[in-house]
Amino acid sequence: MDVISMNELLERVERRSLLLKEIQEVYPDQEGAVLLCAGFERDRETFYQESTFEYFLGLQEPALIAYQPLDSLMALYVPAYSIDRSVWVNEAFDEEHLATLAIEQVKLLGKPRPGYASELFFSKESVENLCQALAVECQKGNKVFIPLEIGSHDVRIVIDQLCQYVPGLREAIVDISPLVAGLRRTKSELELEYLYRAAEITCMAQQAAAGVIQVGNFESDVQAAIEYVFTESGATRAFTSIVGSGKNGTVLHYNDNKAALTKNSLVVVDIGASYSHYCSDVTRTYPVSGVFTARQKKVYQDVLDCHMYVADLAKPGMFISNKENPEKCLNTLAHRFLADRGYDVQKVFPHGVGHFVGLDVHDVGDAKKPLAVGDIITIEPGIYLRDEELGVRLEDVYWIVKDGAVCLTDEVPKKIDELLNFMKASRLGEAFEHEKTGPDEH
Ligand code: GLY
Ligand code: MN
Repeated sequence: MDVISMNELLERVERRSLLLKEIQEVYPDQEGAVLLCAGFERDRETFYQESTFEYFLGLQEPALIAYQPLDSLMALYVPAYSIDRSVWVNEAFDEEHLATLAIEQVKLLGKPRPGYASELFFSKESVENLCQALAVECQKGNKVFIPLEIGSHDVRIVIDQLCQYVPGLREAIVDISPLVAGLRRTKSELELEYLYRAAEITCMAQQAAAGVIQVGNFESDVQAAIEYVFTESGATRAFTSIVGSGKNGTVLHYNDNKAALTKNSLVVVDIGASYSHYCSDVTRTYPVSGVFTARQKKVYQDVLDCHMYVADLAKPGMFISNKENPEKCLNTLAHRFLADRGYDVQKVFPHGVGHFVGLDVHDVGDAKKPLAVGDIITIEPGIYLRDEELGVRLEDVYWIVKDGAVCLTDEVPKKIDELLNFMKASRLGEAFEHEKTGPDEH
C-alpha cells in the first residue's frame, strides 16, 4: 500500500469517529449502530461506489453493508456468492486494507446468492446474519442510524427490503443525512487534490472540445473528443455530457448530442470528469464559426459579467441560495443582475446560480447555511432564448477560502477574445499542455 492510500484510509477512520462523536452529541441518550450500504453493479456501467459509502470506507465492492456499533468496532458484512467471484471480476480489497480501515470483523451477510453478481433485490436468507444483528438492536430498543435521504436509490431499496425482513426496524431508523452532509461538505486537503485533478482533466476535455468545434462536425464528435480525454486520464463522466448547439443549447440538460454543428450557431458544452470519485463541472459556450454575431456577443458578455460579479461576491458568510437573506444570496443577486440588464429572468434563467461539488456533482450540503472555508461550489449563470435558438452558460468550480473564492477551472478562458484564441490554439493542439499520466497516476 503506498503512502497516499494509507493516508486516505486513515482519513476515513477519522471521518467515522467524527460521525460517531456527532451522533453521540445530537442523540446523547441513544444506543445502537450506524449502517452504511454500498452501491450495486449495473449491466451497462463499470461499478461506481455509492458516495457516502465511498466517503467512509472507500472499498470498491458492491453490496457490502458496514455495521458500526456506537460503542465498538466495525463489522463488514459481505455477500456470499455461490461461485468464485474472482474468476469473473477483479476483487477490490485485501486484508491489509480492512485492518487499516479499523474493520474488526468480516462476516457473511447470509446464505449464498446465485452466480457471482450482486442482485439489488435479495432474499431474506441471503442477508439473514445481518437481519439477526439488526433484530437484536430493535429488541433492545436501540436505534439504527442511516444516512438515508442523501443515500442513492440503491441504499433506499436495500433498507426498504431490510425493513420488510426485520420487525421493528423501520421505527428504529434515525436518518443521519444532515450530519453526514455536514461532514462531506467541507473538503480536506486529500479531497482537494482529487478535486483539482478532476478540474484539470475537465479543462483538458474542454480543450479537446474546442479543437473539434467547427462546421461539418457533429455534437457527437465533440462528445467523443471530451470522453476520450476522460478515459485516457483514468476518469469517468460525473454526469452525462451536454453538447447542445443552436436551439439544443437552450435545453438545460440536453444530452442527445447528435445534431450537426451549423454555421453561426453557438454550442453549449457542459461537462465534468469524475476522478477517484471527485467531480468537476465546467461549461463553456463556443461559436461554431469561430466568431460571435453582434447579438450572441451581447448575450455572452451579459452572462460573463454576471459570472464575474457572483465570483467576486462568493466568500464565507454568503449563501448559495437563501430567500430569507436576499442581500447575501448569490442566487438572488445573480438573477437581479441579469434582470437589471433587461432580461425576463424567470423565463430565460430558470436554474440556480450554483451548487456544491464533491463526491457527487450536485453534492450534499445545505445551501441555506452560509458558505464556509473548504466549500467547493460552482458558479453557472446562463441565458436561454428559445425563440432565437441561442443559449449561453458559463460555469466554473470555486474553492471557498478565507476572503473569497479560488477558481479551479480558469485554465479554460471565458473572456471573448481569449475564448476565440483558445479555440484556434486548441485546433492546432497548442492551447495548454499537461503531462500525460495515464489512468493509474494516484
Ligand atoms: N452541469 C450540470 C448541472 O449542474 O446541472
Ligand atoms: Mn453545474
